[in-house]
Amino acid sequence: MAARSDTSDLTESQRWLARSEAVIPGASQTMSKGPTQWVQGVAPSFVVRARGARVQDADGRWYLDLPAALGPIILGYGHPGVDAAIRAQLEDGITFTLPHPLEVEVAERIQRLVPCAERVRFGKSGSDATSAAVRIARAATGRDHVVVAGYHGWHDWYVGATSRRRGVPDVVKELTTTVAPWDLEAMRAALVAHAGEVACVVVEPIGTREPGEGELQAIVDLAHEHGALAIFDEVISGFRVGLGGAQERYGAVPDLAAFGKALGNGMPISALAGRAEVMEVLEDVFFSGTHGGEALSLAAARATLDVLQEEPVHEHLWRLGRRLADGVREQVARHALEEWVSVGGAAPWTLVLVREPHPGGEGLAAKSLLQQEMLRRGVLYNGSNFISYAWTDEDVDEVVEAYGGAFERLASALPDDVPAQLEGAPVGSVFRAVS
Ligand SMILES: Cc1ncc(COP(=O)(O)O)c(C=O)c1O
Repeated sequence: MAARSDTSDLTESQRWLARSEAVIPGASQTMSKGPTQWVQGVAPSFVVRARGARVQDADGRWYLDLPAALGPIILGYGHPGVDAAIRAQLEDGITFTLPHPLEVEVAERIQRLVPCAERVRFGKSGSDATSAAVRIARAATGRDHVVVAGYHGWHDWYVGATSRRRGVPDVVKELTTTVAPWDLEAMRAALVAHAGEVACVVVEPIGTREPGEGELQAIVDLAHEHGALAIFDEVISGFRVGLGGAQERYGAVPDLAAFGKALGNGMPISALAGRAEVMEVLEDVFFSGTHGGEALSLAAARATLDVLQEEPVHEHLWRLGRRLADGVREQVARHALEEWVSVGGAAPWTLVLVREPHPGGEGLAAKSLLQQEMLRRGVLYNGSNFISYAWTDEDVDEVVEAYGGAFERLASALPDDVPAQLEGAPVGSVFRAVS
């Protein structure tokens, strides 16, 4: 391991981390924010405030923030319109004994914007919305099996089919078949293997790449041919790639869709939307929580949607996102890293991923080195580039330059000298390969 070369102070971060480890298992509420996902001794562990495109760590250093709280920050941290809406609602109250009109207003807005949204319900997390969608599909079809590609949250029906499935009963695991994203033949094979049993096919409409022409519609058609419902998990793509989500942009309408993240610009709100006939089962099916109609988040959602509708947010995200992706690709080429580094996703959310020279070894050494070098250049990096409306062309230039410098270090260390260049223990995978 290399000696620490960074001069940034991590004293307060490390103090908080030590306290956290004594009281919070995993030292975080969110796997990808915890210490296993950030190079220890190099990365800050705690953030105390954020503005626009940047966050400030517990020791006072500001970073450009690529993961942006894992996706919800679409307008920028501390957007004045959204923050004012939250403060104004606070004057009237947070949550009540009966529904608040905001529930109707925001649902109506989503109904107008999202193609599949004949009916809308709210939850707090993306997992609420995806799990409700699966339960509805099971109730509507009278079937139990689920065919799934992509990531869909922490609940049993999904996590049972991953490598982190401790605590999920085998009987639950057996009800989910996982296929690789975009592998239509594997999807068909799973539907055939479980003929008459599959309630739904659940996919992320954008993942490591955008869908090709007709690809999403082919998934919808395939599900329907086998009597299953098509569910799009738009927790990331929803409101980020366009007002009507990926379903509008790529022209394929699912039966049900889950939304979250960008809807509240950081406030905890998710939405489940779908065809009226399918959503009607919610008269019977139990999807209910104390905080489902919490009004501060709904006020934030209404204000976020106002800005998305009134200002050229999506034009900005696509233009800057393309500049960022093009700039990163140029740096990849300049350092001859094409074999090692991929740039994928869609412009408003790009993925910059590194292939590990020794997969299955101790942690993700190459990803860690890239993260370490980005941190030294003042950028938080975890693979996801979630830009926001607050980003400027200069921010993009700064990040591309940081990638360039980090790639130079990476290129000189690959394939065998990477661990020796690390100044802290390497980060690990959230999920290992599913056996
Ligand atoms: C595509 C997708 N679906 C579902 C979820 C789960 O959302 P949450 O973490 O809000 O429960 C996530 C979270 O990252 C996601 O990326």
